[in-house]
Amino acid sequence: MYSRLVSSSRTAVIGLTAVMALSTTAFAGPIDDRQAAMKNVGKAMGALAAIAKKEAPFDAGVVNSNATALADNVKAAKDHFPEGSATGDKETWAKAEIWQNKADFDAKADKAVEAAMAMAAVTAEADFGAALGALGNACKACHTDYRRPKQ
Ligand code: HEC
Repeated sequence: MYSRLVSSSRTAVIGLTAVMALSTTAFAGPIDDRQAAMKNVGKAMGALAAIAKKEAPFDAGVVNSNATALADNVKAAKDHFPEGSATGDKETWAKAEIWQNKADFDAKADKAVEAAMAMAAVTAEADFGAALGALGNACKACHTDYRRPKQ
């Protein structure tokens, strides 16, 4: 009798832990993960912008590594917008419209990845400005529709 009680309460604890782990993945996790990925996107974009502003020299290797990191992080962010993560226990600037237009949102992420890959392929300084313009437009296209501005 006693041992049955112990084992059933242990089962209940295991069950509770599983539920807690689940709710963490479903709500707190993706907001943190996509914001962390987007911060990395912002960091890589900052390094590219510094070249455009002549605060850093044009260096094809630096361009390639930042553009590649940017593409990888947009891809990672795209995977962290599951249904139900419009709100969570952390503030998010993601608009609810994302989940009403998920195919369009995903397409905009893919376009940004494409623009980043095109940037990664730039080896001549003469091609850098146009690639950066296209990349910037890809960020803006998504943020305008799907991200609340930070005040
Ligand atoms: C497909 C849509 C999409 C694209 C493309 C996109 N973003 Fe974002 N970005 C978002 C959303 C949505 C958020 C808000 C996420 C949240 O708060 O949960 C965000 C947040 C951010 C943040 C704030 C992160 C934080 O929490 O501090 C930065 C910085 C950022 N994006 C930079 C960029 C840059 C630079 C590009 C282009 C190279 C880009 N993003 C492309 C959707 C996008």
